[in-house]
Amino acid sequence: MPTVFDAYGTLFDVHAAIGRHRTAAGPDADRFSEIWRAKQLEYTWTTTLAGRYADFWTLTERALDFAFARVPSVDRALRSRLLDAYLSLDAFPDARNVLRDLKARGERTAILSNGSPRMLAAAVEAAQLTDQLDAVLSVDSLRMYKPRPEVYGLVTAAFSVAPADVTFVSSNRWDVMGAAAYGFRAVWVNRSGAPDEYADAAPIAAVHDLSGLLSLAR
Ligand code: LAC
Repeated sequence: MPTVFDAYGTLFDVHAAIGRHRTAAGPDADRFSEIWRAKQLEYTWTTTLAGRYADFWTLTERALDFAFARVPSVDRALRSRLLDAYLSLDAFPDARNVLRDLKARGERTAILSNGSPRMLAAAVEAAQLTDQLDAVLSVDSLRMYKPRPEVYGLVTAAFSVAPADVTFVSSNRWDVMGAAAYGFRAVWVNRSGAPDEYADAAPIAAVHDLSGLLSLAR
Protein backbone atom coordinates (compact mmCIF):
# COMPACT_ATOMS: atom_id res chain seq x y z
CA MET A 1 0.00 0.00 0.00
CA PRO A 2 1.88 3.08 -1.16
CA THR A 3 2.32 6.24 0.85
CA VAL A 4 2.47 9.19 -1.52
CA PHE A 5 3.64 12.68 -0.65
CA ASP A 6 2.95 16.08 -2.06
CA ALA A 7 6.29 17.82 -2.65
CA TYR A 8 6.20 21.58 -2.21
CA GLY A 9 5.15 22.60 1.27
CA THR A 10 4.98 18.98 2.43
CA LEU A 11 8.45 17.46 1.92
CA PHE A 12 10.18 20.66 0.79
CA ASP A 13 9.95 24.00 2.53
CA VAL A 14 8.87 26.52 -0.11
CA HIS A 15 9.96 29.38 2.14
CA ALA A 16 13.52 28.07 2.37
CA ALA A 17 14.47 29.97 -0.80
CA ILE A 18 13.78 33.35 0.76
CA GLY A 19 15.21 32.03 4.02
CA ARG A 20 18.63 31.73 2.41
CA HIS A 21 18.50 35.37 1.27
CA ARG A 22 16.53 36.85 4.12
CA THR A 23 19.00 39.60 4.97
CA ALA A 24 19.36 40.69 1.36
CA ALA A 25 15.56 40.55 0.85
CA GLY A 26 14.94 42.91 3.76
CA PRO A 27 12.00 43.40 6.13
CA ASP A 28 9.30 42.36 3.61
CA ALA A 29 10.92 38.98 2.97
CA ASP A 30 8.15 36.87 4.51
CA ARG A 31 5.33 38.77 2.81
CA PHE A 32 7.22 38.49 -0.47
CA SER A 33 7.57 34.72 -0.07
CA GLU A 34 3.88 34.30 0.80
CA ILE A 35 2.87 36.25 -2.32
CA TRP A 36 5.28 34.23 -4.47
CA ARG A 37 3.78 30.94 -3.23
CA ALA A 38 0.15 32.11 -3.40
CA LYS A 39 0.54 33.37 -6.99
CA GLN A 40 2.35 30.21 -8.04
CA LEU A 41 -0.61 28.13 -6.84
CA GLU A 42 -3.19 30.54 -8.26
CA TYR A 43 -1.57 30.21 -11.68
CA THR A 44 -1.86 26.41 -11.52
CA TRP A 45 -5.58 26.69 -10.83
CA THR A 46 -6.34 29.42 -13.36
CA THR A 47 -4.40 27.80 -16.20
CA THR A 48 -6.02 24.42 -15.55
CA LEU A 49 -9.51 25.96 -15.40
CA ALA A 50 -8.82 27.75 -18.68
CA GLY A 51 -7.68 24.52 -20.31
CA ARG A 52 -4.15 25.85 -20.68
CA TYR A 53 -0.80 24.64 -19.39
CA ALA A 54 2.65 26.01 -18.72
CA ASP A 55 4.99 23.94 -16.61
CA PHE A 56 5.47 24.58 -12.90
CA TRP A 57 8.88 26.12 -13.37
CA THR A 58 7.45 28.69 -15.76
CA LEU A 59 4.62 29.46 -13.32
CA THR A 60 7.14 29.72 -10.47
CA GLU A 61 9.10 32.30 -12.48
CA ARG A 62 5.97 34.26 -13.40
CA ALA A 63 4.82 34.24 -9.77
CA LEU A 64 8.24 35.45 -8.64
CA ASP A 65 8.07 38.32 -11.11
CA PHE A 66 4.63 39.23 -9.76
CA ALA A 67 6.01 39.20 -6.21
CA PHE A 68 8.82 41.58 -7.23
CA ALA A 69 6.24 43.92 -8.78
CA ARG A 70 3.99 43.70 -5.72
CA VAL A 71 6.77 44.16 -3.16
CA PRO A 72 9.19 46.67 -4.67
CA SER A 73 11.36 46.79 -1.54
CA VAL A 74 12.81 43.39 -2.48
CA ASP A 75 15.72 43.84 -4.87
CA ARG A 76 15.16 42.25 -8.29
CA ALA A 77 18.84 41.42 -8.38
CA LEU A 78 17.87 38.47 -6.14
CA ARG A 79 15.82 36.87 -8.93
CA SER A 80 18.34 34.32 -10.16
CA ARG A 81 19.52 33.47 -6.64
CA LEU A 82 15.97 32.82 -5.48
CA LEU A 83 15.25 30.63 -8.48
CA ASP A 84 18.47 28.68 -7.91
CA ALA A 85 17.48 28.22 -4.28
CA TYR A 86 14.05 26.96 -5.37
CA LEU A 87 15.72 24.09 -7.21
CA SER A 88 17.37 22.86 -4.04
CA LEU A 89 14.87 23.71 -1.32
CA ASP A 90 15.51 22.33 2.15
CA ALA A 91 13.50 19.26 3.00
CA PHE A 92 11.63 19.54 6.30
CA PRO A 93 13.81 18.04 9.04
CA ASP A 94 11.63 14.96 9.51
CA ALA A 95 11.23 14.11 5.81
CA ARG A 96 14.20 11.81 5.42
CA ASN A 97 13.62 9.86 8.63
CA VAL A 98 9.94 9.33 7.93
CA LEU A 99 10.60 8.08 4.42
CA ARG A 100 13.33 5.79 5.74
CA ASP A 101 11.02 4.37 8.44
CA LEU A 102 8.22 3.78 5.94
CA LYS A 103 10.65 1.96 3.66
CA ALA A 104 11.89 -0.08 6.64
CA ARG A 105 8.28 -1.24 7.17
CA GLY A 106 8.24 -2.43 3.58
CA GLU A 107 5.98 0.33 2.29
CA ARG A 108 6.26 1.79 -1.16
CA THR A 109 6.73 5.54 -1.26
CA ALA A 110 6.33 8.21 -3.92
CA ILE A 111 5.94 11.89 -4.65
CA LEU A 112 2.97 13.23 -6.61
CA SER A 113 3.59 16.86 -7.42
CA ASN A 114 2.77 19.80 -9.61
CA GLY A 115 6.53 20.25 -9.99
CA SER A 116 8.10 19.71 -13.39
CA PRO A 117 10.26 16.58 -13.68
CA ARG A 118 13.42 18.69 -13.73
CA MET A 119 12.46 20.58 -10.57
CA LEU A 120 11.51 17.41 -8.74
CA ALA A 121 14.68 15.58 -9.75
CA ALA A 122 16.78 18.50 -8.51
CA ALA A 123 14.89 18.80 -5.22
CA VAL A 124 14.94 15.07 -4.49
CA GLU A 125 18.65 14.85 -5.22
CA ALA A 126 19.54 17.95 -3.19
CA ALA A 127 17.60 16.59 -0.20
CA GLN A 128 19.19 13.14 -0.66
CA LEU A 129 15.80 11.42 -0.84
CA THR A 130 16.43 9.46 -4.06
CA ASP A 131 16.96 6.12 -2.30
CA GLN A 132 13.80 6.50 -0.22
CA LEU A 133 11.35 6.92 -3.11
CA ASP A 134 9.94 4.29 -5.44
CA ALA A 135 8.45 6.83 -7.82
CA VAL A 136 8.43 10.57 -8.48
CA LEU A 137 5.24 11.42 -10.37
CA SER A 138 4.72 14.80 -12.04
CA VAL A 139 1.51 16.31 -13.38
CA ASP A 140 3.58 17.35 -16.39
CA SER A 141 2.71 14.16 -18.26
CA LEU A 142 -0.98 15.22 -18.11
CA ARG A 143 -0.47 18.96 -18.58
CA MET A 144 -2.99 19.85 -15.88
CA TYR A 145 -2.64 20.62 -12.20
CA LYS A 146 -3.98 19.41 -8.89
CA PRO A 147 -6.69 19.04 -7.79
CA ARG A 148 -7.88 17.57 -11.11
CA PRO A 149 -8.83 13.94 -10.43
CA GLU A 150 -6.77 12.76 -13.42
CA VAL A 151 -3.66 13.84 -11.52
CA TYR A 152 -4.40 11.61 -8.53
CA GLY A 153 -5.03 8.85 -11.04
CA LEU A 154 -1.32 8.90 -11.88
CA VAL A 155 -0.73 7.16 -8.54
CA THR A 156 -3.25 4.37 -8.97
CA ALA A 157 -1.91 3.76 -12.49
CA ALA A 158 1.73 3.75 -11.41
CA PHE A 159 1.19 1.30 -8.55
CA SER A 160 -1.75 -0.69 -10.01
CA VAL A 161 -3.79 -0.14 -6.85
CA ALA A 162 -7.24 1.14 -5.96
CA PRO A 163 -7.59 4.67 -4.54
CA ALA A 164 -8.47 3.29 -1.09
CA ASP A 165 -5.07 1.56 -1.00
CA VAL A 166 -3.19 4.85 -1.22
CA THR A 167 -2.21 7.00 1.74
CA PHE A 168 -1.69 10.52 0.43
CA VAL A 169 0.07 13.12 2.53
CA SER A 170 -0.09 16.87 1.95
CA SER A 171 0.27 20.05 3.93
CA ASN A 172 -1.97 21.82 1.41
CA ARG A 173 -5.56 21.44 2.59
CA TRP A 174 -6.92 21.95 -0.94
CA ASP A 175 -4.68 19.08 -2.13
CA VAL A 176 -6.00 16.90 0.71
CA MET A 177 -9.48 17.80 -0.53
CA GLY A 178 -8.64 16.62 -4.05
CA ALA A 179 -7.02 13.44 -2.78
CA ALA A 180 -9.89 12.59 -0.41
CA ALA A 181 -12.43 13.25 -3.18
CA TYR A 182 -10.51 10.80 -5.37
CA GLY A 183 -10.81 8.16 -2.65
CA PHE A 184 -7.31 8.24 -1.17
CA ARG A 185 -6.68 7.91 2.56
CA ALA A 186 -5.61 11.52 2.81
CA VAL A 187 -3.54 12.83 5.71
CA TRP A 188 -3.21 16.55 6.34
CA VAL A 189 0.10 17.82 7.70
CA ASN A 190 -1.03 20.98 9.46
CA ARG A 191 2.24 22.44 10.70
CA SER A 192 0.88 25.92 11.25
CA GLY A 193 -2.33 25.02 13.07
CA ALA A 194 -4.46 26.37 10.22
CA PRO A 195 -8.25 26.15 10.59
CA ASP A 196 -9.87 23.19 8.86
CA GLU A 197 -11.83 23.68 5.64
CA TYR A 198 -13.42 21.53 2.90
CA ALA A 199 -15.52 19.69 5.48
CA ASP A 200 -17.03 17.48 2.78
CA ALA A 201 -13.59 16.14 1.81
CA ALA A 202 -11.99 15.44 5.16
CA PRO A 203 -8.65 13.77 5.80
CA ILE A 204 -8.51 10.49 7.71
CA ALA A 205 -6.13 12.27 10.07
CA ALA A 206 -4.44 15.58 10.67
CA VAL A 207 -0.89 15.55 12.02
CA HIS A 208 1.44 18.32 13.17
CA ASP A 209 4.45 17.10 11.26
CA LEU A 210 5.52 14.21 9.05
CA SER A 211 6.58 12.05 11.99
CA GLY A 212 2.91 11.94 13.02
CA LEU A 213 2.39 9.61 10.07
CA LEU A 214 4.28 6.80 11.72
CA SER A 215 1.71 6.37 14.48
CA LEU A 216 -1.29 6.15 12.15
CA ALA A 217 -3.01 2.76 12.09
CA ARG A 218 -2.94 1.02 8.73
C1 LAC B 1 2.92 20.28 -5.28
C2 LAC B 1 2.35 21.61 -4.94
C3 LAC B 1 1.00 21.50 -4.37
O1 LAC B 1 4.06 19.93 -4.92
O2 LAC B 1 3.12 22.34 -4.13
O3 LAC B 1 2.19 19.55 -5.97
